[in-house]
Amino acid sequence: MSEALANLLNETRQFPPPAELAANANVTADAYAEAAEDRLAFWERQAGRLHWARQWDQVLDWSNAPFAKWFVGGQLNVAYNCLDRHVEAGRGDKVAIHWEGEPGDTRTVTYAELHRLTCQAANALTDLGVTAGDRVAIYLPMVPEAAVAMLACARIGATHSVVFGGFSADALTNRIQDASAKVVITADGGFRRGKPSALKPTVDEAVAKCPSVEHVLVVRRTGEEVAWSGKDHWWHETVETASPEHTAQPFDAEHPLYILYTSGTTARPKGILHTTGGYLTQTSYTTHAVFDLKPETDVYWCTADIGWVTGHSYIVYGPLSNGATQVMYEGTPDTPHKGRFWEIVDKYKVTLLYTAPTLIRTMMKWGEDIPAGYDLSSLRLLGSVGEPINPEAWIWYRQHVGRGELPIVDTWWQTETGAIMISPLPGVTHAKPGSAMTALPGIVADVVDDQGQSVPNGGGGYLVLREPWPSMLRTIWGDDNRFIETYWSRFGAGANHGDDWVYFAGDGAKKDDDGHIWLLGRVDDVMLVSGHNISTTEVESALVSHPSVAEAAVVGATDPTTGQAIVAFAIPRGSTDISGEAGERLIADLRNHVAKTLGPIAKPRQIMLVPELPKTRSGKIMRRLLRDVAENRSLGDVTTLQDSSVMDLISSGMGGGKSDED
Ligand code: WT7
Repeated sequence: MSEALANLLNETRQFPPPAELAANANVTADAYAEAAEDRLAFWERQAGRLHWARQWDQVLDWSNAPFAKWFVGGQLNVAYNCLDRHVEAGRGDKVAIHWEGEPGDTRTVTYAELHRLTCQAANALTDLGVTAGDRVAIYLPMVPEAAVAMLACARIGATHSVVFGGFSADALTNRIQDASAKVVITADGGFRRGKPSALKPTVDEAVAKCPSVEHVLVVRRTGEEVAWSGKDHWWHETVETASPEHTAQPFDAEHPLYILYTSGTTARPKGILHTTGGYLTQTSYTTHAVFDLKPETDVYWCTADIGWVTGHSYIVYGPLSNGATQVMYEGTPDTPHKGRFWEIVDKYKVTLLYTAPTLIRTMMKWGEDIPAGYDLSSLRLLGSVGEPINPEAWIWYRQHVGRGELPIVDTWWQTETGAIMISPLPGVTHAKPGSAMTALPGIVADVVDDQGQSVPNGGGGYLVLREPWPSMLRTIWGDDNRFIETYWSRFGAGANHGDDWVYFAGDGAKKDDDGHIWLLGRVDDVMLVSGHNISTTEVESALVSHPSVAEAAVVGATDPTTGQAIVAFAIPRGSTDISGEAGERLIADLRNHVAKTLGPIAKPRQIMLVPELPKTRSGKIMRRLLRDVAENRSLGDVTTLQDSSVMDLISSGMGGGKSDED
């Protein structure tokens, strides 16, 4: 971390907004002053951008902190706000989604059509017995039906739990069971890397272990043969034959909208719960403010998958509540060629592009000649999310995608925060490459030391949020104690330090001399691989679930492409043959085992077979040392090591092995 700090300290470049954008920006510098003067009145005005069936009585009830209630007594329907009101205002023919399949097939979905499909899906779900408060799991590729499924749940007050299509049957099973989902919405498969990739068999495997599931709705996408059971229904035979008439009924502002699972420090993922009014208020406002979205003229494209929070907030709820026209792409960036993303920008004349640092670094690796081969002149703003973007990648993005002149919004937020929290405002901020800059209007962020004291400019520490915000998580599904423990017990009232509740984000951060915020990555043992949070403990338990592994320790090592890469140290069980080829075979087997258990994203880059692990006297694995080994640094302080000879064995590379990336 000290190395990263030093680099960041040297970064002094600053880029003012383009004059034209600044002159026409949706949000100006006044917003900061207005929000500072009266934060709740500010959010109340942003809530007013939505349609409410019943006005709220109170903006925020924080009397039961850290359990918040926003827009108390208010009622609204999320799908009505994303669809009906645009259609009723005469914008039904406006394109909502320009969808591009990986093989090159396309669909143009207008607001009227998205509305009709959502009404049909709402009716079909109701016919299957789904009522308000029921949970519905969604396991789909990037097809328009993913947005329809989410909106249909929102429309009838069912709580959706979207599970990323790359997750394994075990991960899907755990998530369905944790939420007791009644229905699963899936597809036969999707197209990835030039071929059909099946989803239905994974669902079949999971549903066999999930008695709560009564029905499975299956979208036909690839046309491949699928096994069929009594619980299965084709989407085109149920949804597409259902009545398109459906009147959206309003729900309480605090009605649960969705659960989204995120990795924690234990093997059990956390079901992050988001509710209705506050969530839609902040996702809608931040789409308007941070992307400067002009629904009449912009073509917006967020390259995230719908299975991550970015897809929830900035493909579905934020853009659609603003009436945006957007691009949705099914596949990978290099299928059938490495220029695919830029071809799509060119084809649909994308104006606002929101993507991840891992993608930008991959594009850097492929070379600037590739974007140079396309007409990217439609672009007017670039966004980044998911992990710290290093200044080199920031500058490359601006230079080779942004013609050396476009503003970049580096947006910091989390599954838990629901919406963007720290980011430049594109018409206001003089952005520094690598810094998320300042908290948005209405958000109070700070960097504190171990004691929870605000650090002065130039200081580093932990990122915290000092005031509740509308799209904050309300709890961890079924585990209020873990909610308090994880986020509210490190600093502030929850740590018996004063009366104010302080949210601990889990990220290291630094304030520069101007007070601008630089994110430095997770301070706990969650790894950030290609923008995805994966817990070390989760991978460790996957390794230990293999019959040849006795114990395992996992660390995230800095990786030029994926941000962090998973490096594992495994102690083989006594009788295991790990000599020569047998060792290599075991390593390959273990990597595949983790991928099968947790999904390909969790596949370790490298596994080292070791006789022992470095531990403190209390038995805690010393990850810091392992990280040093994984990153080939000389070892730090080993005085608290139980058996320092262990480290000699590890660094001498006994049984080391590195396999190719997928
Ligand atoms: C963690 C949250 C936010 C949607 C995608 C990830 C890291 C996110 C940034 C950024 C530095 C960032 C943080 C955060 N992160 N955006 N702009 N700069 N770090 O959601 O899976 O909940 O992960 O991603 O470490 O805590 P998530």
